[in-house]
Amino acid sequence: MDRLKIIESEELNLLERIIRSLAPEEELKRLWDDYQRCQYAKYVYAIRCAKEHRDSLIEKFILDKEGRYLEIGCGPGVLFEPIAKIIQPKELHAIDYSLEMRRGAEKEAKKLEKIYRTKFFIYDGDLSKSETWHVLWQDDYFDGVISNMFLNYVAGGWEPIIQQEARILKPGGIIYGGPLIDGKFYKKALRHALPEFIRQPIESFRGLKFRKKISKISKRSQELEAKAPVKEELIKYLKELGFTEIETTETYWGLGMTFRARLKPF
Ligand SMILES: C[S@@+](CC[C@H](N)C(=O)[O-])C[C@H]1O[C@@H](n2cnc3c(N)ncnc32)[C@H](O)[C@@H]1O
Repeated sequence: MDRLKIIESEELNLLERIIRSLAPEEELKRLWDDYQRCQYAKYVYAIRCAKEHRDSLIEKFILDKEGRYLEIGCGPGVLFEPIAKIIQPKELHAIDYSLEMRRGAEKEAKKLEKIYRTKFFIYDGDLSKSETWHVLWQDDYFDGVISNMFLNYVAGGWEPIIQQEARILKPGGIIYGGPLIDGKFYKKALRHALPEFIRQPIESFRGLKFRKKISKISKRSQELEAKAPVKEELIKYLKELGFTEIETTETYWGLGMTFRARLKPF
């Protein structure tokens, strides 16, 4: 490596370290940007168990043609089409703090608006900050709130997020979610994934690249107090906030789950 390149990479490392120490949240956002630059949706969902997890959430969707829905941590909009096709809401609002993810989401929304009746609204905002929620959405505003692979990554933990979801949902509104529920997911998943690796070697090999990136994201999120909910704790919390009709499905060999619940009508 020539001297200039060494200096450049040292400066980059220094810059990285400064950003990390000044604003760890900024660093996390950059890691999500990087994840999407490698075509997250294409490769992550090429793997059977990721697809099965997503499908188990989609299977819970209920038609609601007049509804106003919100997807939090929407990423590049992988769920937009199933939402527009099955729930068919009048409006789908979606939010993510990663610029690269939002670029993907906006492209997807534009494409889908030509096919489906759903109108899309994409927002930038950090959901770990309660101001974001209060500035954007009033109480009792949405008929449904959806998240997939988000609750376990959000800085500050999943409880404040579910609390905000309950606040902005109308009475009788629906919450959908699909978190990982085991903090040691990446370690344990490798063991479970071996048969899949043999069955889908090319996809799994590509997936490995992402495993490294996402486990780094997971580690950084946990340093900012993100945590995978325990299933029983999550159900208890939903009940305390007034949710009923709670339905759950285990995914990822029991390391993840999908759920649907309804906020009590008045
Ligand atoms: C694993 S991806 C899931 C994307 C999509 N929901 C899916 O099912 O494929 C998690 C997403 O949450 C976003 N995210 C994480 N923390 C966030 C925060 N505090 N505020 C807003 N978005 C956040 C990330 O940028 C990323 O796009």
